[in-house]
Amino acid sequence: MKAVAVYPGKAHSIHLEDIPYPDINSIPDGRGVLVKVLKVGVDATDAEINEALYGNAPEGSDFLVLGHECFGVVEQVGAAVRHVKPGDYVTCTVRRPGDSIFDRIGRSDITTEETYYERGINLLHGYLTEYFVDDMEYIIKVPESLKHLHVLCEPASVAYKAVDEAIHAQRRLQVWEPRTAFVLGSGQIGLLTTMILRLRGIRTFTIARSEAPNLKAEIAEAMGATYVSTRKKSLAELAAQVGKPDLIIESTGHSGVAFEAMEVLNLNGALVWTSITGGDRRIEIPSDKINLQWVLGNKLMLGSVNSNFRHFEKAIADLGFAESMFPGVLQRILTHPVDGLDNYRKVMELLEDSSALKVYVNVAEG
Ligand code: BGC
Ligand code: ZN
Repeated sequence: MKAVAVYPGKAHSIHLEDIPYPDINSIPDGRGVLVKVLKVGVDATDAEINEALYGNAPEGSDFLVLGHECFGVVEQVGAAVRHVKPGDYVTCTVRRPGDSIFDRIGRSDITTEETYYERGINLLHGYLTEYFVDDMEYIIKVPESLKHLHVLCEPASVAYKAVDEAIHAQRRLQVWEPRTAFVLGSGQIGLLTTMILRLRGIRTFTIARSEAPNLKAEIAEAMGATYVSTRKKSLAELAAQVGKPDLIIESTGHSGVAFEAMEVLNLNGALVWTSITGGDRRIEIPSDKINLQWVLGNKLMLGSVNSNFRHFEKAIADLGFAESMFPGVLQRILTHPVDGLDNYRKVMELLEDSSALKVYVNVAEG
């Protein structure tokens, strides 16, 4: 089968590999699911892997098959599989468990092991190929009515987890009613986080660099958020105008912004960092001031990465809810399809084009 791969550690090494067709019996006890890949989304993580800033090949392989945002159709299931059947549309989680207690309770997304295993990213091959096999535990059904949102399931699950972690952590306060949220960044994570917050009635400001009018601003506003360009207004100016946010979800990919966000959070607020920053940027910060404000304001900061099957299920439910609340809006995120695995160079070109909101590969019809 064809597969799009890189040589990790070697920049711009994207190429086609020929890999064997997967065997459903490689998963023991009849738990295997064979999936025909239909679409695979790519994101900044794939760009960083191709830049050799991130990611590792599986043990014994010199290449890594890319792709971690998948959408496909079930081709065959093992005898123990009940929740999906051939013909069902599905997506699949990214991380696979290690040995920590969190891994053992289905929470590999919060593993305490330094080495983590992620399909298409770290130590495991990804989905940018024709078929794959995995354990039924990692396969999530996607209703046919949401087929048109395909590759948004994985990023939506990452956004869902970020908000959910903040809600769990804020139980420390006994009562927490976030009224105002800042979402930093208007890429797919920023827009899907905006969706999740707006579905819960939270006053949301989606904040990014580019000036409106633009597609990202239109999508955010169609979900009832207010779009703000940092070229027009700094975070501090916005907070002075509309009030300090109780919740900030940072997803710009820029570590400087992650620290700047610390200066505008409300008392008792929560700041969630989600950007994966493989570079080595350094900035200067007013550390005494931030330290003082954070202690006096009982503020919380947490990092959130990845998502497990439960986050996928909830995120898919939210995609369905959003389709009734904001009909037709989410599909506008899916801006840049590329046809066929052979066109992998085009994929990387588009990833570098900042006007491309979402790049994905049409692998097969179905
Ligand atoms: C993926 C996550 C993954 C993270 C870190 C993101 O792009 O969507 O599933 O955990 O990268 O590798
Ligand atoms: Zn990703």
